[in-house]
Amino acid sequence: MKIEDFIDGVSWGRKDLTNIKDLSLREINEIFALAKLFKSSLKTDGAKLPYLKGKTVVNLFFEPSTRTRTAFEMAAHKLGADVISVASNISSSVKGETLKDTARNIEALMSDMIVVRHSSAGAAQYLADRVKIPVINAGDGAHAHPTQALLDAFTMREHFGDDISGLKVTILGDILFSRVARSNIYALDKLGAKVTLAGPSTLVPDEFKSLGVNICYDLPEAIADADVVMLLRIQHERQRANYFPSISEYASIFGLGVRRENLLKKGAIIMHPGPINRGVELDSVLADSGRSVILNQVTHGVAVRMAVMKLCMGASLKGK
Ligand code: CP
Repeated sequence: MKIEDFIDGVSWGRKDLTNIKDLSLREINEIFALAKLFKSSLKTDGAKLPYLKGKTVVNLFFEPSTRTRTAFEMAAHKLGADVISVASNISSSVKGETLKDTARNIEALMSDMIVVRHSSAGAAQYLADRVKIPVINAGDGAHAHPTQALLDAFTMREHFGDDISGLKVTILGDILFSRVARSNIYALDKLGAKVTLAGPSTLVPDEFKSLGVNICYDLPEAIADADVVMLLRIQHERQRANYFPSISEYASIFGLGVRRENLLKKGAIIMHPGPINRGVELDSVLADSGRSVILNQVTHGVAVRMAVMKLCMGASLKGK
């Protein structure tokens, strides 16, 4: 199908993407279908596409990022948009300007879209409710990272086929502080995958069971049956207490080391949203092994974000 024909027929009506929880399965599948078309077009044609031509996207990152910020920038460029990245450490937020004022000034500068990462849960939705232009959440505190979950599920579909219902996915590590885990739980549940959360009990509280996942505190048991093992980084920047005795003890009990590879099922893949703490949650050899699809995740981040940006901009323009 041609990209133009697909775009003409979409039912997507959201100007913003702030979380996965609110999305229907149909909306998620629309993102995947458009991302797949963009992925193929990028493979065959390095030229820019015209779908955001004449638009300006502002990246507003109040937390560090390599993958997400670069992928959003690349996605916007590939759609023909101009991109401005505001470095939070030299923005007027350091002089005390509120987040709302910052966003409304960016809107007043005739920007067409804001991509925001912030340490506060709910920051993206807060802005989405206060500006008319689309707001895309690039990660808000420990709350949500919707485009990461979408690119993760897209990567699973590209590897295992479009129907991932019944796929067994184990998410292992710092679940408590992870926006990636929360967004993946919602996305994978809607897609029918079976999610197991694993790690130390301090970082994998029982309350997550209410989201329909299994919980397991034993690494060999948690990974034995998994088609996908997704490792998460220990997020020291969000922890205000010690949730395990030491990094070396965490690595020896919950790290996926080479000696544990034989516990994985034949055909099981290893995923990680990055950045990786090599030698802590994941051994370097496994991170770079044939089982790893970690760099595919990164590559898919561009096509998935192109789809999200195009859909949200389209809905915003229709609503005007
Ligand atoms: N996965 C992810 O969000 O990575 P960055 O922090 O580098 O953007």
